[in-house]
Amino acid sequence: MKFTVYRYNPETGHEPRMQDFEIEVERGMMLRDGLIAIQDEDESFAFRHSCGEGVCGSDGVNVNGSNRLACITPLSELREPVVVRPFPGRPVIRDLVVDMSQFYKQYKQVDPWLVRREPMPEQEILQSPQERDRLDGLYECIMCGCCSTACPSFWWNPEKFYGPQALLTAARFIADSRDQTTAQRMDALDDPFKLFRCHTIMNCVDACPKNLNPTKAIGFIKAQMLKSSI
Ligand code: FES
Repeated sequence: MKFTVYRYNPETGHEPRMQDFEIEVERGMMLRDGLIAIQDEDESFAFRHSCGEGVCGSDGVNVNGSNRLACITPLSELREPVVVRPFPGRPVIRDLVVDMSQFYKQYKQVDPWLVRREPMPEQEILQSPQERDRLDGLYECIMCGCCSTACPSFWWNPEKFYGPQALLTAARFIADSRDQTTAQRMDALDDPFKLFRCHTIMNCVDACPKNLNPTKAIGFIKAQMLKSSI
């Protein structure tokens, strides 16, 4: 199978370039297997990966123009040549490895943990089945970054717009009946950029390997804001 992969090593002083590879493919191979085979041919080729099961979220790349997790993308579904590039909109450290610091910074800004005003009770805080159901579609995010790095609003304002991943996480805690800072969470997002720079382009929905819907989560936050202002 023919591959064209992005190569860049700042230590060499050379400009970025695309490099062609041809590898033997067997049935059932994923893109990650293909990248490992390329690395076997050229050990200077760099990309991140770990679990191989779509859990750790470390091997997000741009393949044939779409952000995907390499370990759960079957090679049989990709047209040739398979063009693999780093995530768009992030600084490249080397080859397919990008700097995700800004992405993690935005995640941290939404306080991704439960906050209680009352002292913690001695036993667990119970939820009704309906309250628990509200978290479905929000808590499953593995923070791979496929969504935020596919989002034009995040490319244009990465420091001001929180991006789909952080906003999905914000929605997850706003929706959680156990959290006691819902109003403060919404106040913190009431800003022309942090939340409202989402233009409903929906690249995030297409890119999410877990089939989550950050656009819907952003709409949920807006609806909650509206409800609380009436
Ligand atoms: Fe962990 Fe792909 S290697 S999600």
